[in-house]
Amino acid sequence: MVSFDLNHVIESQQFDRDILELVFRTADMMKEDLAGDRKLAKFLDGKIMASLFYEPSTRTRFSFESAMRRLGGEVITTENAREFSSAAKGESLADSTRIINGYADLIVMRHNEAGSAARAAEISRIPVINAGDGAGQHPTQALLDMYTIVDAFPQMNNLKIALVGDLRYGRTVRSLSYLLTKYEGIEIVFVSPPVCRMERDIKDYLDKYQVPWREEDDLSEVIREIDCIYMTRIQKERFHSIDDYREAAGKYILTPELVAQMKRDAIIMHPLPRVDEIPPVVDSAPQARYFEQAQNGLYIRMALLYLLLKS
Ligand code: CP
Repeated sequence: MVSFDLNHVIESQQFDRDILELVFRTADMMKEDLAGDRKLAKFLDGKIMASLFYEPSTRTRFSFESAMRRLGGEVITTENAREFSSAAKGESLADSTRIINGYADLIVMRHNEAGSAARAAEISRIPVINAGDGAGQHPTQALLDMYTIVDAFPQMNNLKIALVGDLRYGRTVRSLSYLLTKYEGIEIVFVSPPVCRMERDIKDYLDKYQVPWREEDDLSEVIREIDCIYMTRIQKERFHSIDDYREAAGKYILTPELVAQMKRDAIIMHPLPRVDEIPPVVDSAPQARYFEQAQNGLYIRMALLYLLLKS
């Protein structure tokens, strides 16, 4: 089997099919272990994970912290690192990273600036995991997204995937787009208003790997042909213009009427949190996978901690 030779997890492009397969099979092992005899409950005994979140989070932070504890490791953390770490006193990210290197075995970091995790990794002796860097990337979200898609469609044959909503500032859809190039027969439909179009660098990457893509404005025009619809929140906090935000907000709502037009075996995903783009009434639809998707985050993050810290 392929070995896991990554020192840090910064961007989705680090993962090829062999490493993806290793991560996914390790996540399967974590899921089985949690449901079974808990042989791995002390596997990371004595290891410490520093979770350093400069931006809010529910899923990523809690699932990483839960993952570490479920493997027997410990967690050091701060509420809102922007306010309660020495960043509030002007300490640089480089200095914080150097200092935490002496206290922990791994850093999980969410930051408001794209490229911040890569900068921290450059000077860090211990693994750095990017838990979301501004409008840059969110590679561990992409891994759990891909794990969810492969679970729903094990053959991965000729899938049509719609990425819907805030594609301009959405780091989850950027990271997922990179991973989708690793599979054959994928076609991507970007559904967004003009103010939230997917950036050129991702389109160029898809072209390079010969992944067909197109852009649409109207979700109802494409809903019948899609196998996987990936809804996203319009991220008010990342818009530079309130007029642009108003143009995008509330435009894509996956109503029960739209869900009724979907293929029966299609799936609905969302990285969460949601605002109004998926009404709660849709949660009971057979296509809804977003809570299972969030749960998969625990298994994927356990797998990453295991693979990065096991030696
Ligand atoms: N999907 C995701 O990153 O959720 P959080 O912001 O709650 O971590």
